Parts: sequence; structure tokens; C-alpha cells
Amino acid sequence: MNTILQDTQKHEAQKLDAQKAAAHVGLLSDTIIVNGGRPLRGRIDVRGAKNLVTKAMVASLLGDTKSVLRDVPDISDVHVVSRLLEIHGVEITGSPESGILVFDPANVAIAQSAEIDALSGSSRIPILFCGPLLHRLGHAFIPDLGGCRIGDRPIDFHLDALRAFGAVVDKLPSGINITAPNGLTGANIELPYPSVGATEQVLLTGVRAKGITELKNAAIEPEIMDLIAVLQKMGAIISIEPNRVILIEGVDSLKGYDHRALFDRNEAASWASAALATKGDIFCVGAKQQEMMTFLNVFRKIGGAFDIEEDGIRFYHPGGDLKPVVIETDVHPGFMTDWQQPLIVALTQAVGTSIVHETVYEDRFGFTEALVEMGADIEVHKNGLEGGYRRVPRRALEQAAVITGPTKLHGADIEVPDLRGGFSHLIAALTAQGQSRVSNVGLISRGYGDFAGKLQKLGADFSFAA
Ligand code: EPU
Repeated sequence: MNTILQDTQKHEAQKLDAQKAAAHVGLLSDTIIVNGGRPLRGRIDVRGAKNLVTKAMVASLLGDTKSVLRDVPDISDVHVVSRLLEIHGVEITGSPESGILVFDPANVAIAQSAEIDALSGSSRIPILFCGPLLHRLGHAFIPDLGGCRIGDRPIDFHLDALRAFGAVVDKLPSGINITAPNGLTGANIELPYPSVGATEQVLLTGVRAKGITELKNAAIEPEIMDLIAVLQKMGAIISIEPNRVILIEGVDSLKGYDHRALFDRNEAASWASAALATKGDIFCVGAKQQEMMTFLNVFRKIGGAFDIEEDGIRFYHPGGDLKPVVIETDVHPGFMTDWQQPLIVALTQAVGTSIVHETVYEDRFGFTEALVEMGADIEVHKNGLEGGYRRVPRRALEQAAVITGPTKLHGADIEVPDLRGGFSHLIAALTAQGQSRVSNVGLISRGYGDFAGKLQKLGADFSFAA
């Protein structure tokens, strides 16, 4: 297929995803008009982490009894995973709006592949259904996977891990058919890279596999630790060993859980960046220091200020010039790849040249084109940049962005490309002088609960386009 056609198809798929996501959470329109240049000030609530909640929802499939999940955010990804669970026979009560969901897995059943397919366009979570469905039904089907359009996002680690447990993987034109004719058995697995999703795959599969699973080079993100806490409540035996090793002793059965989700550190970091970029002051109720230490260090180095309180963290611009930084994104405990996009908007206001090395994904600076259109000075180096002190070893797929500031941003018509890039567009529009029209904002609701309500609370001047 030629690249222009591919780009057009990607673009259309993106628009459709954005519209579906907007509909899930009841946004008035998929486009907002922002009058920028006003500091964001006020208090907002940060609920459970998208990247834990959606996985804990999948874990409910493994239980023999009901599970209760608290602090669920009202985001479109939660609606999609709810629908995916429902088509697999899980009965769900409660609502994302109320923050509590109850899952009853008594009647788990095989879903129609067309139904899975219809939902999967906007989520990568179906891949994590494999282990639980193989244990319960001996069969799983994975359609073409969606999620943010940030590079190819392969699933080879997932499939290799499932094969190591004894699953048989058949690639068909419509998707991937996975069976476990002889059940699943504990395995020794070493990940080529500490992938979050592949670690979750091994956890969700290993807990009910026969015998012991040893996972080397595992991801140890706080959301993974919280998923392990969920699984332990269900009856699993999982130990965290030194040097990224996780040991799982398979058990015969698991029960449901009752769990309050870890707060969303990506959401808190995003609002913190918004406070800095707009010279504002935002208190994130529910944010905690431990999971944000790496972010807080960088925030302080740039010249941002924060107060850690009992019930949350206050992030603010204390006055004076912001300073440039050099950041390498990395797996935990490094600087998260999901933090760089909103922070880059604040870096356009720093005095001097900052460098962000993106080492986790292969294509995560597409969003900077819109910032440049708005007046930012950002140069993207597709093959990364050599030289300088490095904490994270250089990776073949990495890219770098060089941001020189301070630059005045002005309003523009911009189109949200993905979840985190989208939030950064929103912050840029709020920072810029003049009016911006931001379309595809539905994509932002994939991971930011009630973002419009929160903007209102923070005094932003915006309206939904008719
Ligand atoms: N990778 C492979 N093969 C695989 C799996 C991953 O090569 O089979 C590579 C990826 O291409 C990437 C790297 O490994 O270069 C890391 O990917 P990882 O598997 O860790 O990412 P993920 O599980 O797909 C989750 C979050 C992302 C977050 C990353 C890194 C969810 C639903 N998504 O993705 O969140 O950026 O971990 O922390 O948990 C977001 O919230 O906006 C988002 C993209």
C-alpha cells in the first residue's frame, strides 16, 4: 500500500476513534474552542490510573466470585474494556461515573470475533484477555489491535510468552486465534525489554498456570505493583525478587477482589505541566509523592514548585524564569514516556535549550508539529542525538526533540493525534495568546476523566464547538 493512502487511512481511523471515545463519555462535541493565555488555578480530583484500572478489570475474569474496583475514572478506555468484558459474559454493575464497578464472572463465555473486532479499534487491552480466557475457556481471539498510534507497537513479547506457557498461536487474516489444548504450564521467560504489557500478560497467565513461572527483565511500574496487589487479594502467590525478577507460583483457583485503584500519576503529571506552562497553580487531590518522585525531581529542576500534602500535591509556577533540562524517557523508575508530551509545552517557556530523548517508543514526537505551528521552536531528530551524558543506554529506535525557549505561543487550528500528545495540544492552546480550535479531543477522554469539567474548575476559557 502506498504511504499517502496509509496516512489517509490512519487519519480516518484516528478521527473515528476520537468520535467513538467522545461518545463513550458524553462529550458535547469532538472539537473545542480555547481562548488561551489564562493561568489554570484550582483543585481537581485525580482518580484511579488508566493503566492499572483497565488491567484490574481484566483480572476479574480470573476470579470465581465477584470483584469490586473503586476509584474507577470515567474514561473511554474503561467503557471499551467494560464492553469487552460484557461480550465475554461478565455482568457489570455500578458505573465509571460513580467510580465503582462490580464484575460478576459467573458466566464467562466465548465472544463473537466480529463483536471483539468492532471494539478493538480503540483499545490494546484485548491482548491481555488471552491468559484469563485460556484458563477459563481454553480459547482466545485477538483482533487487530488499536491503542495510541505511536509507532508499530508490536505484540511479539506477548505471543512468545503465551507460547512458553504452552499456548498454540495461529495467525489468521482476521486476527490471532489462541488455544491451549494441554492447559497452561509455568515457564521461564526473559523479556527482551521490560515491557509493561508483556509483564502483565505473564502475571495474568502465570497466576493460574500449573507450577512456577519465573519472569526475568520484568517491568516494575507502580501500576504493575498494584496489579500484583489485586492478584494477591484474589489468592495468587507472586514474589518480587531483586533485579527485575518476578516469581509466580500457580494456584488452582482465584476469588474476586475488592480494590481501590492506585491514583493516575500520568494524569497528575499532565496537570502539573499545565500549571507550569500557564503560570498557574493546580492542586491534584489524590496524587502521591512516592510514585511521582522522578517527575518531581525534573519539575523542580525546571523551576516548578510543589507542596506535598496529606490529600494530594499542589503544583505551581513560583514566578521567575523556567530552566531548560535534558531528559531521557525510560521504564520505571526512569522518567515515563507518558510525561514528556505535556512537559514539552512547559519547556517551550523555559529560557534555553532542552533535550528530550524518547527511548521507549519509536515515534512519539508527532505531536510537536502542532506546537511548532503555534510558534514553538522544536527540532525533532528521528534517529536520536549522539553525545552528552546518558543515564539510559542508547536504543536503536530512539528519537530526540530539541526545544529552545522561551517562545510565545499563538492560537491555531490543531488536531489531536493521540492521548498524551492530545493533552499537550490542549495545554499549548491554554498557554497560547489568542484562540485555538482543537479537534479530535475525544482521544483525550481515553485517559483523562472529565477533562472538560476539570478545565472549567481551573478557570479555563473554552467552549465546545457546535
Ligand atoms: N514492545 C515490543 N513487543 C511487545 C511489547 C512491547 O517490542 O510485544 C516494545 C514497544 O514497542 C515499546 C516498548 O516495548 O517500544 C515498551 O512497550 P510496553 O509494552 O511497555 O508498553 P504497553 O504495555 O503497550 C503501557 C501503557 C502505555 C505506556 C507504556 C510504557 C497501557 C494500556 N499502556 O503500554 O501508556 O506508555 O506502558 O509505560 O498500560 C498511555 O497511557 O498513553 C500509554 C501509551
